[in-house]
Amino acid sequence: MIELVDHLLLQEKLTLIRREGIDGIHFRGGIIEIGRWLAYELSNTLEKEDVTVQTPLGIAKGMRIKDKNDIVVVSVLRAAIPLVEGIMRVFRNAQYGVVGASRNDEPPFPVEVGYFKLPPVDDKILVIADPMLATGNTMNAILDRIHEKGTPRRVVLLNIIASRTGIERVEREHPDVEIYTCAVDEELNQDGYIVPGLGDAGDKAFGKP
Ligand code: URA
Repeated sequence: MIELVDHLLLQEKLTLIRREGIDGIHFRGGIIEIGRWLAYELSNTLEKEDVTVQTPLGIAKGMRIKDKNDIVVVSVLRAAIPLVEGIMRVFRNAQYGVVGASRNDEPPFPVEVGYFKLPPVDDKILVIADPMLATGNTMNAILDRIHEKGTPRRVVLLNIIASRTGIERVEREHPDVEIYTCAVDEELNQDGYIVPGLGDAGDKAFGKP
């Protein structure tokens, strides 16, 4: 399932962070804000229940989000760090996991998953944050490891830009995964970068000032 998150304010933010030459401060700030938007969008799909609330003047009908305590946010180092910062501002009591994966720069871009530290995932809503879904290799390798560890209730990817190839590969190997993205870009270049994309998200967030 792919959900294109196309709110106007979010799309304006995405346009800003794609720009060549944007400085790290504005890039990180934009990513944090997009993380919040993506989390808002996801929160709209969580289960809720009816409750009532005593106001100073009477009793009002209201609701409570039931499964917000079941969320585990997974940060794919290092580019996801600012994205996760935004997501955690919305899911404030989420649990938190960290994955380090390195991709070989030569085709077919094999991936080695290194550091992998997750709380229990059984019956959780696993929210994997990775700004760029490019070849799909990193995500598929991480999803394989997650399924060795347990069976989440939902697995949701929060991306900023996804390539058509990345989406197809993830959907082929992990059809139950839900992908939320702000844009789908059609091309990958010979180095496995998304075109037009935004460049190297990690370098833009944490590279030279
Ligand atoms: N990672 C990035 O940061 N950018 C891409 O285009 C692909 C992978």
